Amino acid sequence: MPLLPSRAALTALAYQLGPSRYYQPAYRFIAADVGTEQGCFLDVGTGTGWLAIHVASGRREVDAVGIDTSDAMLHYAEANKRGRLNVTFRKMSASDIVYPERTFESAAAVQSAHHWAEPGPIFAEVHRVLVEGGRFYVYEADPESAVPADWIDRRGGFPPDALVRRQWAKFGMDAARWAELRAVAEASPFGPDVADERHGFYRRLVCTK
Ligand SMILES: C[S@@+](CC[C@H](N)C(=O)[O-])C[C@H]1O[C@@H](n2cnc3c(N)ncnc32)[C@H](O)[C@@H]1O
Repeated sequence: MPLLPSRAALTALAYQLGPSRYYQPAYRFIAADVGTEQGCFLDVGTGTGWLAIHVASGRREVDAVGIDTSDAMLHYAEANKRGRLNVTFRKMSASDIVYPERTFESAAAVQSAHHWAEPGPIFAEVHRVLVEGGRFYVYEADPESAVPADWIDRRGGFPPDALVRRQWAKFGMDAARWAELRAVAEASPFGPDVADERHGFYRRLVCTK
C-alpha cells in the first residue's frame, strides 16, 4: 500500500469536499431538465455521482447509472448514494459502454467532455445505447458566463466568485474548443441536428437520436 495518497485520490477528495458540495443546486436544476420519469438514465463521467443521484431521487420508476473511469471518484459516488437501490455506479469508459443497444431513455455528461481526448467514439457509443428519440445532453461551464446566484450553494461566502470563475476558466471550455466539440457531435451518428444552448452558466449540446 503506498504511503502517500495518489494524485487521483487527492483530486477526488478535493472534488468531493468542494464542487460536489457547492454545485448541489446546479445538479438539481440539470437533473430536473435532463432526467426521465421512467426507464434508465446514463450519467457519463459521473464523478462523485450527484447528477445520477438527483435524477433517481424520488423516482421509483427510474434506474440511474453513472459511469466513470476513476476508482477514486467512484468511491465517493458510492458513499454519496447512501444505499439508494435505483442508482448504480460502474467503472467504465464512455468510449466502450458495456450496455446493450437502446438501454437508456436519456443521457448526460456534465463537465466531463473537457477530459475527452477523442470525443467521436463517445458520441457514437452513447448514441448506440439510447432509445430512438433519446437525448444526450453535454454540459460544459462557459468561462464567459456570470455567476448565477441560485445555482451555487454558498455558505459563509464560500465559494467566492473569484474561485468559481477561476474554476470555470480552468475546467470549462472556451468558444473554440466548444465549436470543435459541436463539430464532432454533428459528424457523429447523432447527425447534424445538434442544438447548442445555454442552461444556467453552462453551454450544452442537445443531441437527439
Ligand atoms: C470534472 S469531473 C465531473 C464529474 C461530474 N459529472 C460532475 O459534474 O460533478 C469529470 C469526470 O469525467 C470522468 N471521465 C473523463 N473521461 C471519461 C471517459 N472517457 N469515460 C468515463 N468517464 C470519464 C473523469 O474521471 C471525472 O470523474
